[in-house]
Amino acid sequence: MKRRILSGMRPTGKLHLGHYLGVLQNYVRLQEEYDSYFMVADLHALTTKWCESGSIRESRRDMVLDWLGAGLDPAKCTMFCQSDVPQHAYLFALLTMITPVSWVERNPTVKEMIRDLDLKGNVNLGLLSYPVLMAADIMAYRAEAVPVGRDQVPHLEFTRELVRSFNHIYGVDVFPEPQAVLNEFQMLVGLDGRKMSKSLDNHIIVSDLPEVIRKRMMTAYTDPLKVRRDDPGHPEDGCVIYQYHKLLHPADIQDIKTQCEQGSLGCVAHKKAVAEMVIERLAGFSSRRAGFAEDPSTVDRILAEGSLKASAVAGETVRLVREAVGI
Ligand code: TRP
Repeated sequence: MKRRILSGMRPTGKLHLGHYLGVLQNYVRLQEEYDSYFMVADLHALTTKWCESGSIRESRRDMVLDWLGAGLDPAKCTMFCQSDVPQHAYLFALLTMITPVSWVERNPTVKEMIRDLDLKGNVNLGLLSYPVLMAADIMAYRAEAVPVGRDQVPHLEFTRELVRSFNHIYGVDVFPEPQAVLNEFQMLVGLDGRKMSKSLDNHIIVSDLPEVIRKRMMTAYTDPLKVRRDDPGHPEDGCVIYQYHKLLHPADIQDIKTQCEQGSLGCVAHKKAVAEMVIERLAGFSSRRAGFAEDPSTVDRILAEGSLKASAVAGETVRLVREAVGI
């Protein structure tokens, strides 16, 4: 029996290179080894986008196409949408009964969201209970491991506390304590040298056309002291292109460093070369994605099949939980 994992992503739009290298490639590897459940967290998207809910469906489609393009295979893993599996909400309701309010109020990731969104006194209950819903997602599958980025670790710790608490209160071991499987490369720098993110507009969208990617790459931050090609460069002082090169093509990085420092490689030429590396790296992705996008019903069909499989597992969990609670 393979061990079960669950992970989710909020449908916030087309995925960028940071998601692709950091999260998706990890998912693709994990689907070989684990009984894997990958979830479109649309209820979680509503915690902050309740008034822009109209864009969620389209984002869901874009995101699942990105998953399929990256190599997630419906024959190997289960892809589904959170709101299609009502057991998440059911379990959430039961978990709120055993969750002290102080636990959600002190959760650092929730605090960060409240600060970033500048919500102050206007926090909706859905956002405050974000970690409880996430715990319900994980516990619905009695998942043993959860692939996440480092920023999600407090949420996972929260889930582990709830698991211990549930098992203790009701005197049965319904749930295993899930372990984090940390994503690699999760801090891919954006074009300006800060963390890559859509809200900072420093990202490269993986489903963009090659000419768009080439244009975006030309805006990347490079050594400001290197104005002309023959100026000596300082590639390790934050040059974004150098960092991408190192990640995508480490074999010749020493050589590139020397050429940049000695003034035989200019920033423009280097940007062009690295843009081609990105495009080449995404070639398989782009053609696979285009294949799945041809038939507009593909994503809906995959999610419908996925939600049936997910409901079977989550339904069994709810049965066990009702038995344990005695309702
Ligand atoms: N909170 C996660 C994020 O923003 C998304 C998510 C929702 C998730 N439910 C989950 C991740 C369950 C892992 C497991 O990235």
